[in-house]
Amino acid sequence: PPHRPLYGRHVLVTAGPTHEPIDPVRYIANRSSGKQGFAIAEAAAAAGARVTLVAGPVVLQTPPGVERFDVETAREMAEAVNEALPADVAVMVAAVADWHVENRAGQKIKKNGHGLPPLELVENPDILAGLGQSPGKPPLLIGFAAETDNVIDYAVDKRQRKGADWIVANDVSGDVMGGRENTVHIVTADGVEDWERMDKERVAVKLVERIADALSR
Ligand code: C5P
Repeated sequence: PPHRPLYGRHVLVTAGPTHEPIDPVRYIANRSSGKQGFAIAEAAAAAGARVTLVAGPVVLQTPPGVERFDVETAREMAEAVNEALPADVAVMVAAVADWHVENRAGQKIKKNGHGLPPLELVENPDILAGLGQSPGKPPLLIGFAAETDNVIDYAVDKRQRKGADWIVANDVSGDVMGGRENTVHIVTADGVEDWERMDKERVAVKLVERIADALSR
């Protein structure tokens, strides 16, 4: 039915940041409110999909009809994503931290006047690129790219490098982080679509329409 165009589809969404502990009271993270990913999960559920939302630490309510799994670290997120497969569509919106702290301390690190604590950083798994290469790759794999400059060039490159079908590039040089609105560009094999600045909810609804359209072809 036209009003539930994703009925029978499984949509997997990642959202929010990941937190990579340094010690029990400190962590490394990227800035992310989770709003855009949650809005996409909500719009996909409203379009009739079964939606699995893998969320990093955020303060947002679970949208109606969405099954949510909360995780803290990138490695936990990667595991939750793998457990949620198979999916018809994966929309990877999470701002995953690039590194975790290999020598995380079990107790609070003290400022002791003897210099700075050495943090050994180790690269996290790239969840999007991992899915892009996996035999379980969802038929439609969508990544996000938050950039402050050369937004389109980086997104075109990222689409290729990560094996994604589409990249939604957002220009975060302004007040997009944590804000209500977003300016996005949709990078596909066919080229680039520039969308006007709009609410994150509207971006979500339009993206879900675009997804339903692509799946119906
Ligand atoms: O490389 P960059 O972090 O800019 O790529 C952004 C895209 O890759 C987003 O879709 C993000 O969710 C995904 N990503 C991921 N796992 C990572 C890093 C990024 O899934 N470790």
